[in-house]
Amino acid sequence: MSSSSSAIQSVLVENRVFPPAESVVKAARISGMDGYNALCAAAEKDFEGFWAKLARENVVWNKPFTRTLDESNAPFYKWFDDGELNASANCLDKHIGTPVESKTAIIFEADDGAVTKVSYKELLAKVSQFANALKAQGIKKGDRVLVYMPMTVEGVVAMQACARIGATHSVVFGGFSAKSLQERIIDAGAVAVITANYQMRGGKELPLKGIVDEALAMGGCDTIKTVLVYQRTATACNMVAGRDKTFAEALAGQSTECAPVAVGAEHPLFILYTSGSTGKPKGVQHSTGGYLLWAKLTMDWTFDLKSDDIFWCTADIGWITGHTYVAYGPLAAGATQIIFEGVPTFPNAGRFWQMIERHKCTIFYTAPTAIRSLIKAAEGDASVHPDRSDLSSLRILGSVGEPINPEAWMWYYKNVGGERCPIVDTFWQTETGGHMITPLPGATPLVPGSCTLPLPGIMTAIVDEAGNDMPNGAGGILVVKKPWPSMIRTIWNDPERFKKSYFPEELKGYYLAGDGAVRSEDRGYFRITGRIDDVLNVSGHRMGTMEIESALVAKTDLVAEAAVVGRPDDLTGEAICAFVVLKRARPTGDEAKQIAKELRDWVAKEIGPIAKPKDIRFGENLPKTRSGKIMRRLLRSIAKGETITQDTSTLENPAILDQLGQAY
Ligand code: PRX
Repeated sequence: MSSSSSAIQSVLVENRVFPPAESVVKAARISGMDGYNALCAAAEKDFEGFWAKLARENVVWNKPFTRTLDESNAPFYKWFDDGELNASANCLDKHIGTPVESKTAIIFEADDGAVTKVSYKELLAKVSQFANALKAQGIKKGDRVLVYMPMTVEGVVAMQACARIGATHSVVFGGFSAKSLQERIIDAGAVAVITANYQMRGGKELPLKGIVDEALAMGGCDTIKTVLVYQRTATACNMVAGRDKTFAEALAGQSTECAPVAVGAEHPLFILYTSGSTGKPKGVQHSTGGYLLWAKLTMDWTFDLKSDDIFWCTADIGWITGHTYVAYGPLAAGATQIIFEGVPTFPNAGRFWQMIERHKCTIFYTAPTAIRSLIKAAEGDASVHPDRSDLSSLRILGSVGEPINPEAWMWYYKNVGGERCPIVDTFWQTETGGHMITPLPGATPLVPGSCTLPLPGIMTAIVDEAGNDMPNGAGGILVVKKPWPSMIRTIWNDPERFKKSYFPEELKGYYLAGDGAVRSEDRGYFRITGRIDDVLNVSGHRMGTMEIESALVAKTDLVAEAAVVGRPDDLTGEAICAFVVLKRARPTGDEAKQIAKELRDWVAKEIGPIAKPKDIRFGENLPKTRSGKIMRRLLRSIAKGETITQDTSTLENPAILDQLGQAY
């Protein structure tokens, strides 16, 4: 843990409180703080009994479980492990024969505005047919399938079809590069790739299959036998005979019925790669039973879902939010959801508000970065302000992925929610599978910028570096003291790294989230103060500083050394700042600009455009201690433009600070 002091020592100064309206409390599933406290008390009193009851009520089991929690090989916890189920059956088949069967499951709005609706019954037929197509390619239970798809109904169908036959999917966000894709294919040992010829974003046609071809050509991907290609647009793409098939070819003649394969509760439903504090992304492995339970239950609890809600989570299926709150949760809960292919600024920055009006969205769940950029757009152009759209259908708003600053919270509350809709500021992570700390719309008084209190059964706490509890008001390290059903099971191929990263010995066996947090003196509300490791959060996208450093030094003809830090950014939350030492003289002026561009493009190629450093500074060296350690806290100060007031006496080369402070 390299704790940055700013992340663990902030004080909560927000005094505004917004209690839920009485009418909302009355109608809510978890009603008032009494309702919340009763559930928490039930979990405290009989932890396993609490979870067992919920798992029996919320999941359809092919074979009921008899063991709730197996802690014998901690931290490799097992939940409901002698039970059997199928995730896709829990999202689709379960609704057949109920009124949900003919309900709209997905309202899909394409980038160009075209709208398609799919009912639960139709979705089941699509998923089943696709599952049969996968089987026909020889794909079976336990195989890994890489999904590199646009935000479309077909993306969700691909994930659900894998789940239906017990194949483990690994979805890679469409913005990642060929190199990132290749690394994930190799690490997961995937047997097939499901992709599209192109994706449509903001009116532009962007290649996906071309990037898959590039990744496969890089070598090491011999496990891949099949590439299935969804023809999203009319433009042709390269197809390799014997390996590549269009969806149409793969689906031809396949039945629309396919019996779901029951798997053990611990069977890996998916692997999702995310950034850690070392260079190599981690394959976060999730279970089937515990994960599905939490996806379904948090839809009911956090969003207080009602049968007539129109739910919209704007996250891409390439991220955990798009897994739990697009591909699984809404379907398991029988909701109607909106899926949007495009970007919030096309054809104009009023798109989200216009879509809420068009589809009568009732629950809207998005990221603070999107809100901040839409605030900026609305301030510059009244025609895209939310007040131009009828947002009266909304009843609950959500925020996810990064801290939401109180100013953005207030704007969202007033201008989007009409001061009527509770905002659920949900704190969670790829590793947690679903929400951990969040207000409940019909129970929790809201405080802007605070994710408030943990969900019932989730034992979060703030501790010092030895695992001792910190009092309210004092910042510390966020941990979870007990396991929970949807937690990460391991890092694919790397159980040792799993133990070390998340259950460090000094923390008494607690799960280490990697964030700093503080609880308010008055209410004990949590506020997340930011990562305490070398992970950055840029526009809600998680990036490892080491990952970007490795990418930079991989440009061996040019770069001798690189250090990457984050600095606060009004729009993107954090921005990436890289300090680079070249293998040639330190460039200045136009030459520096040109090399900086070259390096940015290089990082985009190595990782993806989301990892491009915003700032690049060149130095003859980096600030190092006499033992050669890079002093990152100084780099963080320089990146922020601060004058260095810290102690620099251990620094080998103090003059370097001035040089790195200069922009070119
Ligand atoms: O730093 C926290 C931040 O996002 C990290 C997890 O990122 P990722 O695994 O990509 O998952 C994002 C979507 C769940 C956390 O360690 N984070 C997430 N939600 C919040 C947050 N920070 C503050 N407030 C939140 N609501």
